[in-house]
Amino acid sequence: MTDRYAVFGHPIAHSKSPQIHAAFARQTGQDMRYEAILAPLDGFADSVAAFVAAGGCGANVTVPFKQEAFRLANRLSPRAQHAGAVNTLAFDAGGTVGDNTDGAGLVADLTRNLNCALTGKRILLLGAGGAARGVIEPLLDQQPMELVVANRTVSRAQELAALFGRGVRACSFDATDTSFDVVINATAASLAGDLPPLSPRVFTAGTLAYDMMYGGDTPFLDFARTHGARTADGLGMLVEQAAEAFHLWRGVRPDTAPVIAALRQDGLKGENLAASPLRGQRT
Ligand code: ATR
Repeated sequence: MTDRYAVFGHPIAHSKSPQIHAAFARQTGQDMRYEAILAPLDGFADSVAAFVAAGGCGANVTVPFKQEAFRLANRLSPRAQHAGAVNTLAFDAGGTVGDNTDGAGLVADLTRNLNCALTGKRILLLGAGGAARGVIEPLLDQQPMELVVANRTVSRAQELAALFGRGVRACSFDATDTSFDVVINATAASLAGDLPPLSPRVFTAGTLAYDMMYGGDTPFLDFARTHGARTADGLGMLVEQAAEAFHLWRGVRPDTAPVIAALRQDGLKGENLAASPLRGQRT
């Protein structure tokens, strides 16, 4: 019988996950089906329970249910515990395992696809919400020289730094006026077409500026490029976090490069990028 997987979110119509997992399944010869399920805002747990009852083997979870999925799981991976959120569920006889593959996806995209080793580097992470928290531990595992978290509301950055302790420093946007090797935008600013109030001095010609939003250029990436940085959007992270979930469920690691290339091609097909299905989303 074909194994069933799904992504739960609200909204969910925009999700690229069914397309990504179908490509992985074709490539690796796995007999599985993957669908998008719109869970009611007050009915996430019931939707997941119905899916499990119908034979579901695993699921991805996206906005706004990642914290609820964290509470739903009866076993959590260490990285899900650190993230305080779950984006991947696996159902087995023992119940529901919760994992978080977002940070691993970001690190894989940076280090493998973009050839940007993080060890010994100075990293600036913008934002202190769920998206930022989800990637801190995997970034620290790469042993950067420094990880600075800057946020509009400094107290939230301080809370995050206190949570992780070792090697994380909190500051305001104003205080970030030295250059970094990698600057990662994990704020929600790009989703609204805004630019975080950042000093151009954080960028040099050697800086990689990375926006966790996918779908092409954002005000942050435009600003970074204007000030000499190399830039990348979050499409690679989207595909890499999916590959990490796929590996967890199926025990095989798909080749992500052709899937990233195909999605990039799809997004660029429409003349009107603003209306593209790839525009302005995050995992
Ligand atoms: P998410 O799960 O997407 O991280 P969140 O928990 O609501 O969502 O966090 C949003 C993050 O984006 C926060 O760091 C927020 O800054 P504040 O803590 O000061 O609110 C940041 N953010 C949102 N809009 C922003 C903007 N226009 N400029 C800078 N930061 C912004």
